Amino acid sequence: MRSERILTCITATTAALVLLGMSALAQAQSSSGAPAKPAPKAAPAKAAPVKAEATRSSNATVREIEKYREALADGNPADLWEARGEDLWKQKRGPKMASLEQCDLGLGPGKVKGAYAQLPRYFEDTDKVEDLESRLVTCMVMLQGFTYDQAKRAPFGSPDNKPAMEALVAYVTANSRGVKMNVGMKHPKEKEAYEIGKRLFFHRGGPHDFSCATCHAQDDIRIRLQDLPNLTKKEPAQRAYTAWPAYRVSQGELRSFQWRLFDCFRQQRFPELEFTSQGSVALTMFLAHNANGGTYNAPSIKR
Ligand code: HEC
Repeated sequence: MRSERILTCITATTAALVLLGMSALAQAQSSSGAPAKPAPKAAPAKAAPVKAEATRSSNATVREIEKYREALADGNPADLWEARGEDLWKQKRGPKMASLEQCDLGLGPGKVKGAYAQLPRYFEDTDKVEDLESRLVTCMVMLQGFTYDQAKRAPFGSPDNKPAMEALVAYVTANSRGVKMNVGMKHPKEKEAYEIGKRLFFHRGGPHDFSCATCHAQDDIRIRLQDLPNLTKKEPAQRAYTAWPAYRVSQGELRSFQWRLFDCFRQQRFPELEFTSQGSVALTMFLAHNANGGTYNAPSIKR
């Protein structure tokens, strides 16, 4: 329903510039008092109505939203995911009763610090480019003896599903906080992944003939409280990539970058993006590499 509104906006305004009502901000701020208490799931549907009228967002509004984000950042519930992830990393689990402490995320077995800032990357042992999630699946299979299906099943959180994957992602990403993004492109398979990702980004299709670029290749667009960053430009691409995963106050869940991609595929009315698939890794490679030089600063918190 939410995305239907979004689509209405976009089709109704070719420039896709959407009015952000200050009432929306006020409404969102009223929930900022208790970020630790997850809002009910229905929250997104209740957000301020978006009319088809359009306007360019003012800088004042941008500043207000920044203030709101800063206010939320104290006591980010994402810490809970991070702590659970650290436990899971060290816990002996799976048929082989092994921990992930020997998992090589690219900097050597067990080295977590700064590893995320260099992912995705080529791994010799699998002869593949892997992002964090696909690498974690590899480690869960190789070290802990899980099957692929077990390791990648239902990777996104909901009230009755608290996947290990998300917690592990929170733990590993948090260990790159403050590190500059530095995704390499030396290996031919890394270059290939980048090129495939770029193509996917600009590929138009689906019932609305949308590509990622339809919503993410212009400046200063916003849908309600959400910035639609121009992901083809260095600075906004850096800012967007380095802020995921994020605790979503409106959903009461930690959302990973992979969830973000999954959800944008849905918004685009594309077939479901398969978790850890080659396409998913390629798109991540494209966006992560474009964020190079930006300082990684997540898990963050968002409305
Ligand atoms: C119909 C418009 C639409 C299309 C098409 C779309 N997105 Fe999005 N995208 C959004 C909206 C809306 C948000 C913000 C939603 C939110 O935060 O709740 C967003 C957010 C994002 C973000 C996070 C930005 C940030 O600042 O944190 C990324 C990254 C992203 N999209 C990537 C993609 C990719 C890659 C594709 C193509 C597979 C894509 N999007 C296609 C609408 C779209």
